[in-house]
Amino acid sequence: MRVEVLQKGLAEIEADLHVVPRTSEQKPVPTEFAQAPGAEDAPTDYKRLTLLRPGHPKRLLVLGLGAPEELDDERLRVAAALALKEARRYKARSLAWRLPVDGEADSAESRVADVVVGTILASYRFDRFKTADDDDGPPQLEQLTICVARFAERLAEEAEAARIAAEAANRARELQQLPSNVVTPSYLAARAEELASEHAVVSAEVMGREEISARGMGGLEAVAKGSVEEPKLIVLRYEGRGADGETLGLVGKGVTFDTGGISIKPAASMHEMKMDMSGGAAVLEAVGAIAALELSLRVIAVVPSTENMPSGSAIKPGDIVTQLNGKTVEVNNTDAEGRLILADALAHCVELGADQIVDLATLTGAVLIALGSTYAGLISNDEEWARLVERSAERTGELAWRLPLHPEYKELTRGTEADLTNASAKRKASTIYAGSFLEEFVDDIPWVHLDIAGTAWDVDREYVGKGPTGYGVRLLVDLARTLAQKGR
Ligand code: BES
Ligand code: ZN
Ligand code: ZN
Repeated sequence: MRVEVLQKGLAEIEADLHVVPRTSEQKPVPTEFAQAPGAEDAPTDYKRLTLLRPGHPKRLLVLGLGAPEELDDERLRVAAALALKEARRYKARSLAWRLPVDGEADSAESRVADVVVGTILASYRFDRFKTADDDDGPPQLEQLTICVARFAERLAEEAEAARIAAEAANRARELQQLPSNVVTPSYLAARAEELASEHAVVSAEVMGREEISARGMGGLEAVAKGSVEEPKLIVLRYEGRGADGETLGLVGKGVTFDTGGISIKPAASMHEMKMDMSGGAAVLEAVGAIAALELSLRVIAVVPSTENMPSGSAIKPGDIVTQLNGKTVEVNNTDAEGRLILADALAHCVELGADQIVDLATLTGAVLIALGSTYAGLISNDEEWARLVERSAERTGELAWRLPLHPEYKELTRGTEADLTNASAKRKASTIYAGSFLEEFVDDIPWVHLDIAGTAWDVDREYVGKGPTGYGVRLLVDLARTLAQKGR
């Protein structure tokens, strides 16, 4: 989608649909459209849409934003998604917004980003496998124009950054939604290599089954044993220009299908487990966006990818494996596979020189019970690093709520026959337990774990709907932008 920000009046712009957002304190429509029938009393309640000039080629949509004091980034993202849906109804290919810039440039920047993000995320579709040639489907929006009264140049830069991040999120969503017979570990590895070929500043390194074993990544090796699909340990490195500060480490769970293994899952919703690679997808596409934005920092991304299958060669409950950092783990539940592959990936990320790490993983069903689809669970060993990630979460609306670590939780991770066990007795504090387990593999470097099992799918906000959300891409890009700024 093309996105532009212009210092022009909305009426000067050619577009299939014009959008005028209004809070309850603003006049229903700006003067240039005042003569449109119905303009005077178009309602401004939040989410209220009024179409003026319904038959006119330049249709005009009044978009209610409600009380100005309640207007925030999330409301605007939602409003943008509503406008996009309306655009689809009228088969619009171009959309023009008039965005009031009342305050400082900073707040206008986030408003512009909200409109871009809400529009692009809402325009995501997954129809690759629909064979019918459906002429009735609405066309994709091709052009989004945002008219502002001031700061056009700065706001255009912000719009471009938002476009890049949102389109990367849509690519992650497609990876999430593609079935597991398409998105295999090899497919994710090929996507990583493709990203490296698209950006000169990105390089990819991929290990297969043999090398994973030879390197001593016993967790990834063990989980992959049950599958004929070759596991992949994917590493992407990004070296931004002028980056002389610290290195951001990103780790994403890439289980392309989680049957549970021998501790097999119930059949009813097993098909949903094609999304167990959501963390990995977010990490890969975030690196692509960071490279496209040419941010000035270094990134090392590690995505351990495998299927988790039951078979004659699968790992069995009670088996003991040795992780990359030498720690031993009793695998009491083969369905707690994510932590086994992440343990190796985190240890590898530390080995490669990351100074701070964020990992994203659809790790526990318990986080869905605790926080639903609104907040991801956040666990960290470092106050300052946690605060920084929390701020990116707030800014992007990819929310995260911190859960505690505690020596008593740590006790739960102790094994009887090995150093650690991979699942807590009686599933006590399942989400925190998993975080405490992962902490054993990051040495003491600042680390944040995001359990995205609840937020990766089925969030049902207007701009992402019930399917994949691409959770994490925008958060990680925002975090990288913050770090790049700090490094200056
Ligand atoms: N991939 C699942 C977690 C999950 C659940 C993701 C729901 C998305 C939606 C993970 O590998 C898993 O099965 N975790 C187990 C751990 C348990 C056996 C200790 C769980 O949460 O039930
Ligand atoms: Zn599992
Ligand atoms: Zn899993």
